Amino acid sequence: MMEIDQLKNAFEEEFGVSDQPMQCFFAPGRVNLIGEHIDYNGGVVFPAALSLGVYGILRFRSDQVVHLKSMNTPLKVSVDLKTPILYEGKDGWGNYPKGVIKFLLDYGHSIRGCEILFSGNLPDGAGLSSSAAILVLTAYMLRYANGDHTIDCVKLARFCQKVENEFTKVNCGIMDQFAVAMGREECAILLDCQNLSYKYIPFVLGEYRLVIMNTNKKRELADSKYNQRRGECEEALELIRKHRSVDNLCQALLTDVEAYIEDSVLQRRAQHVISENHRVLLATELLAQGDLIGFGHLMTQSHLSLKNDYEVTGLELDTIVDCALESAGCIGARMTGAGFGGCAIALVKMEKIEEFKRTVYQGYNEITGLTPDFYVASIADGVKLIT
Ligand code: GLA
Repeated sequence: MMEIDQLKNAFEEEFGVSDQPMQCFFAPGRVNLIGEHIDYNGGVVFPAALSLGVYGILRFRSDQVVHLKSMNTPLKVSVDLKTPILYEGKDGWGNYPKGVIKFLLDYGHSIRGCEILFSGNLPDGAGLSSSAAILVLTAYMLRYANGDHTIDCVKLARFCQKVENEFTKVNCGIMDQFAVAMGREECAILLDCQNLSYKYIPFVLGEYRLVIMNTNKKRELADSKYNQRRGECEEALELIRKHRSVDNLCQALLTDVEAYIEDSVLQRRAQHVISENHRVLLATELLAQGDLIGFGHLMTQSHLSLKNDYEVTGLELDTIVDCALESAGCIGARMTGAGFGGCAIALVKMEKIEEFKRTVYQGYNEITGLTPDFYVASIADGVKLIT
């Protein structure tokens, strides 16, 4: 992790020295422990914020321009606060902070010109929510630095989801922004995506650890397939609603699927959603009882359902999960996030982690030709000011 002092030096190299103070902030990435492709279906999910994430340093200027720079890419973006702010492909990652600035202004927040330097230590394109981290970080720091110190982080998460849906046109659910904004050290969040009620559950792993396995297969086509799955879920829900009144697909029963949906693809999509939602509820109960073996078993069931019924895994995620399950000390593994590449997670006995990494590396590399990376997750707080 880059030290804050180093980041401040890099800031001055980029933007020069000034008598204005710098303010530092951090927003984490996230993993989802179980409950995949459930948020936009109104069910319960179980994510946690990571100690890896994105740092941001902000310093005010005397004009009405916001300069954005990231240590992770050469691209620089500037936003004139007096002219209309539009999505532009050439601005790449900068469209996330641009969207936040536009929507903050539209909502009546006052923003002064400033310089912002971002620096992330999340692996790129790995599905650990670096985009949600940039959105939440930008919204939090601009509001905080402009004098608003009583930020409601649930509302902040919804605001950032709106920016992602409407400005960058990614039709995501609320889970990522919520986990980034509301994370708590050593806890996972049981979040009901229908009404945003939530509960922190201590993520106590005893002799086990959560290992994040990066397939290093970038999440290509993820957005189009993601939207396709959302459409299929909406179709399945409409078919069930012709017979029964339900608020969302998670409230339907497996017997409804059998009775009211004929198309086998839609059947399988709905089966995943309904069964996954049950798994989340059961998994959180088992975790609270300290039954990690049971929890791990449900993680694996979740992966199989995402593979066979929801079809969002692919060779790399399936291989890494298979290799993990065959390795010593592993009691459960699954993909995490949207799928189609990115990361998987595994529960592994602490003393076996080195052996586990070696075996998975070898097996995965042999089949896919790719080299995986591993991180032992530590579960951290949501977005915050760093003093
Ligand atoms: C992505 C989306 C989330 C969620 C997951 C799948 O991370 O941004 O809203 O739908 O995929 O669970």
